[in-house]
Amino acid sequence: MKRSNALAQLSRDHHRGLVVARQLNGATRATASAARDAFLAFWEQEGREHFRVEEDVLFPAFARHSSPADEAVVRVLVDNVDLRRRAADLSAETLWPPEEPRKLGGRLHAHIRHEERVLFPLIEAALPENELIALAAAVELAHQQRP
Ligand SMILES: [Fe+2]
Repeated sequence: MKRSNALAQLSRDHHRGLVVARQLNGATRATASAARDAFLAFWEQEGREHFRVEEDVLFPAFARHSSPADEAVVRVLVDNVDLRRRAADLSAETLWPPEEPRKLGGRLHAHIRHEERVLFPLIEAALPENELIALAAAVELAHQQRP
């Protein structure tokens, strides 16, 4: 199913996130530092704001037609806390345990796949066309306001 305009911008962020997740998953001792830098650059440039746009705009729009405690949303919110925690630790730590690139890469990959395969199709099915159009405009505006 083709992604609606409302979610297409967020899906583009997801695509870049998957590239970083692959880099983390494939990291060796020699490439772990580059993978860490790639994740932190993605986090600072897009990831942090991406979470904010989803939480400020997308999930409340879905909650009008579902429950704020919908399990597909709850899973994403829990992931967001975990990924924020890992990003904060990564920014502060000089040592990176050798198993962490794979843990972070796996978590990021599973998070994005869940949104793309489960949550986004639920949102597209739940919202009427006029609300999807309004959502696209709200997401676009929120993206433009990125610092
Ligand atoms: Fe997302």
